Amino acid sequence: MKKSDYFSLKFENDKLVFIDQTKLPLVEEYIETDSYNRIAEAIERLEIRGAPLIGIAAAYALALSVKKDSSGEKFLEAYNRLFRTRPTAVNLFYALEEIKKIYEADLPMKDSYELLLARAIELHKKDEEYCDRIGKNGLSVFKKKSGIITHCNTGKFATGGDGTAFNVIKYGFEHGLVEQVFADETRPLLQGLRLTSFELSKNGIPFKILSDSSSGSLMQTGLIDFAVVGADRIALNGDTANKIGTFNLAVLCNFHNIPFYVAAPSTTIDRNIPSGSEIKIEFRNKNELLYSGSLQIAPESFEVYSPAFDVTPSHLISGIITEEGVFNFPYNFIQ
Ligand code: MRU
Repeated sequence: MKKSDYFSLKFENDKLVFIDQTKLPLVEEYIETDSYNRIAEAIERLEIRGAPLIGIAAAYALALSVKKDSSGEKFLEAYNRLFRTRPTAVNLFYALEEIKKIYEADLPMKDSYELLLARAIELHKKDEEYCDRIGKNGLSVFKKKSGIITHCNTGKFATGGDGTAFNVIKYGFEHGLVEQVFADETRPLLQGLRLTSFELSKNGIPFKILSDSSSGSLMQTGLIDFAVVGADRIALNGDTANKIGTFNLAVLCNFHNIPFYVAAPSTTIDRNIPSGSEIKIEFRNKNELLYSGSLQIAPESFEVYSPAFDVTPSHLISGIITEEGVFNFPYNFIQ
């Protein structure tokens, strides 16, 4: 199959080059920076998004923070700045800790940048490899040529490789096992409509986009064999935080007796929390609902309820596909 010609981010000539995901799919604009603060802003604005990719970008940003700093003062500033960007995806905190461990290993300042960068590159490569293994492991969930529903974006735009749930679909497609993909638009920021559709079309995978509220009606038609989604944080008991609307989809799958899978690297498992009730959920700015793009569609005086993520209880999850294999309920990930 033709290698697809787009990327989410790469590190080149001591700079991070990333696509501005807020402008996709109509504009493909790449931004180049060596400023950790610009990368932190990109994460906050969702120019860079998706749990694994946020972690990778933050690792590069933290390495860059020491590049021109011989005093060692910038590292902590950058660490704290990046730490506050988004609260839910655990991959951010995992990556920041991994880079911090190297920084704290008492190195001469002059070697810090190279060593931190080497670790960031390693984390990036590892995620790429995990994506491949998730795709391969996911083949076992196909029982026949399937209709699949997915939510949000879990492909190249969300990871360091070809994706998690997206790569399960891509591998299935390459093995002749995908009839059609149905991509939820994913209100309010439309990651499904704008990003997943872009990636599906770049890979030649047949798809239809649907409004989030159409998934129940779609399941009644019998066209869906299973659902597969990504994750932002998985608790030790398998409870999974993912893009808002994932829980609704899991409940609908349960009602229709349709298998519901989560695909994620093991770096998305939070080894410190026993259950999903401890996951911090991000709430977004109300204007993301009150405006459609730059067009205001409701008065700013209106109150809004806008969580960015929800938690799906583990008993609704038929399997969690990781780079290690497919795990089934009851989940008991180890600390
Ligand atoms: O707010 P976002 O776009 O960063 O949310 C992304 C998701 O919820 C993804 O499904 C999740 O990060 C998994 S990406 C492999």
